Amino acid sequence: MQVIIVKKASEGAILGANIIKNEMLKKKNIVLGLATGRTPISLYEELARMHKEEGLDFSDVTSFNLDEYCNVDFEKEGSYHFFMNKHLFSKVNIKKENTNVPNANALDLEKECKAYEDKIKSKGGIDIQLLGIGQDGHIGFNEPSCSLSSRTRKEFLTLDTREANIDDYGSLDKMPISAVTMGIGTIMEAKKILLLAFGKSKRRAIKECVEGGVSSLWPASILQFHNDATIIVDEEAAADLYNINYYKQKYEENL
Ligand code: F6R
Repeated sequence: MQVIIVKKASEGAILGANIIKNEMLKKKNIVLGLATGRTPISLYEELARMHKEEGLDFSDVTSFNLDEYCNVDFEKEGSYHFFMNKHLFSKVNIKKENTNVPNANALDLEKECKAYEDKIKSKGGIDIQLLGIGQDGHIGFNEPSCSLSSRTRKEFLTLDTREANIDDYGSLDKMPISAVTMGIGTIMEAKKILLLAFGKSKRRAIKECVEGGVSSLWPASILQFHNDATIIVDEEAAADLYNINYYKQKYEENL
């Protein structure tokens, strides 16, 4: 696991976008795994800028999003379909038919989840998976105590997660209680992982993910078993890391 500590979130977003850009330049028909939430917004802004000003080409790119809430209107703010269109898909030349966000309103969710997995496999798997992390250590919506080999499925959200994402819904009773999420097993099959975490609310989760024991109580800790995982954190999120100086030194010496 490579840990990169940046001073500010804006720096982390630019660095993350450059990592994705470099992968896109190596493979034109790359398969991107994408995340939603507050964390990747500036990274998507930077990718959109790269498309507009530097001609970064998304025409052969395929994308798979991590998750979507159940029982929400995909056309409306609060859904992850809406989020992706707003922050990335409408700003770059990705083909609509090449973008995939789980259909969490499907009548037969089991069939839908299996089809999502099959589609990822049929495209050759995910080349680089972008992740945020919940305060409770979730990645995707794989909540604490989930199976560490889980696949795409419906998952109930913890109270902690529902409270953290209340903004788009106004109140807890309007907030969805479940979502369809790629599983931990699905995420771990991505060839490369890029996790971003900014701000002091992520401090404990980053500590457990990077330096804690691998445990389903902190689902992101499984990334310690991935052979190509990069974690970009700002100083606030990194503050509790025991080996903080070592990570800084290692990164600076490799620059
Ligand atoms: C979103 C997702 C979640 C978020 C996490 C952090 O697609 O999978 O795991 O990455 O909840 O959310 P923010 O970035 O809003 O703190």
